[in-house]
Amino acid sequence: MHNSIPVIAIDGPSASGKGTVAELVAAQLGFHYLDSGALYRIVALAAKQQNIDWDDALAIAKCAKTLDIQFKDGQVMLNGNDISDAIRTEEMGKGASRVAVHAPLRAALLDLQHSFCKAPGLVADGRDMGTVIFPNAPLKVFLTAATEVRAQRRYQQLLNKKQSGSNSQISYADILLDLQERDARDKGRASAPLIMAKDAILLETDHLSIAQAVDHVLQNYQSFTNLSA
Ligand code: C5P
Repeated sequence: MHNSIPVIAIDGPSASGKGTVAELVAAQLGFHYLDSGALYRIVALAAKQQNIDWDDALAIAKCAKTLDIQFKDGQVMLNGNDISDAIRTEEMGKGASRVAVHAPLRAALLDLQHSFCKAPGLVADGRDMGTVIFPNAPLKVFLTAATEVRAQRRYQQLLNKKQSGSNSQISYADILLDLQERDARDKGRASAPLIMAKDAILLETDHLSIAQAVDHVLQNYQSFTNLSA
């Protein structure tokens, strides 16, 4: 990892909109983008394919070390196969949060995450970007919204998907429960729990549009570059 390369760490709970915000900030600045949640989703999918129990910490970490993961033009490739859609299901979201509790897996994914830190800069999105993976990031943002707001956004996303052909059953109550479970698991785990870094900026998006949230991050980054110029 090169300390001279600027990193913007964006952490927060599920469905806070941080993925979309992080991607747009990266595009605006011409920075690389790390979707660290995708890595945990990929491991959950690979484990399922190989009949490995999501609760088996050592087998999960061993499995992760064998995977050939590539991010190409918005596609996620695992061992040469396009798994972009397969990792975005609610099942893999839940699987990701189950495998993510294992410290050996988190250690196994460390080097891969650091390898994304390349010039001219990186926007990294996840749960522990500012606390564990890039603790020296000059800008750390904790992006969040009330659980009900996040559940409503996720519900709307799934409804939109359904309109475009997906036929899975959706209920707002199930989504809310699922988010509450995931939040509790992400915050309560011993290894790299979801917490706001002491030096992070809190960005509550309940009443913000995506564009406003992006502007807010960019303005903060601009202040940082002005200060360090
Ligand atoms: O961000 P996304 O919803 O894709 O992440 C899926 C799950 O992966 C999260 O609920 C969390 O348990 C885990 N995760 C993590 N650390 C990260 C990113 C994601 O533990 N840096």
